[in-house]
Amino acid sequence: MREDEVRTWVGDARTAFKAAADLDSLKTARLIHSGDKSPIALASRALGSMSPEDKVNFGKIIGEAKAEIASALATATALLEAERDRKVLLEEVVDVTLPVNRAHRGGLHPISIIKNEVSDFFIEQGYAVQEGPELESGWLNFDALNMPADHPARTMQDTFFIQPLESGMVLRTHTSPVQIRTMLTQAPPIYVICPGRTFRADELDATHSPVFHQVEGLVIDKGITMAHLKGTLDNFASNMFGPGVTTRLRPSFFPFTEPSAEVDVFFNNRWIEWGGCGMVNPRVLATCGIDTDVYSGFAFGMGLERTLMVRHGITDMHDIVEGDIRFTRQFGVGL
Ligand code: PHE
Repeated sequence: MREDEVRTWVGDARTAFKAAADLDSLKTARLIHSGDKSPIALASRALGSMSPEDKVNFGKIIGEAKAEIASALATATALLEAERDRKVLLEEVVDVTLPVNRAHRGGLHPISIIKNEVSDFFIEQGYAVQEGPELESGWLNFDALNMPADHPARTMQDTFFIQPLESGMVLRTHTSPVQIRTMLTQAPPIYVICPGRTFRADELDATHSPVFHQVEGLVIDKGITMAHLKGTLDNFASNMFGPGVTTRLRPSFFPFTEPSAEVDVFFNNRWIEWGGCGMVNPRVLATCGIDTDVYSGFAFGMGLERTLMVRHGITDMHDIVEGDIRFTRQFGVGL
């Protein structure tokens, strides 16, 4: 072994480490120039069989050479690791300014949104939400509600009757039959709202739709008066239309309430018709087996389309029923 040979190994190792283009090639170069079978390792092992002086002499030379090779390797490793990290950062960079290609998720129709809003408001006050069938018996839709057979609402004009006519079935013209269903199956106190789809034989125009939605409220308890009704309506109105919005009642007639009233709401500086209401007619309570000496109650009913139209200044019913998402989107449903 000669000293110049050892220097050559060191030079070769340096050159090879420097030439490595990436960490993989560096690993190969490391095995060749400083691995177990590299000349320097073999020489180091050969020290054992040398004479004591040679051992001291060459031991020093080999020790220094090994240190130089190790340091060259460390330098090359550090450089290549830094280079790799830089590349990874570049390749994996996310351009948050690129436009997104978003699939439409779909969303709730504004009528569903307002229905949920009304339900949430009443649920907070301890009401239950009650639903009933859209295909309803004429008895529940009319008779039980004290609508005699000659009431105008019972003519072919307003009601979709189901064939055969003897079936006595109709598409419910209002959500009031759900009042009856509730009173027939639950004992007072009753605090319910009944939102749902209703049907009337109207042409679709700017303010009418043959398929629309109502929400009915019904309270039956001891000592219920019109003051409770008025307070509930004012509270409901301010929740739907904004703080401080109140209602007024105008005398009216419904067969199932006595006295009956139209509810107007004061919104955008004018009174707007909102729905109907009244004290549940004792005849209706009696039909449902409720003791009218003990209990009294109120009921009210509003159109959800009308509520939505008033609140959002929608002037054409077509917008609500046609399902054009350019309309729906304005209600922030994440389409
Ligand atoms: N059911 C009535 C209608 O559809 C509204 C109403 C409900 C009126 C409850 C009074 C009490 O016109």
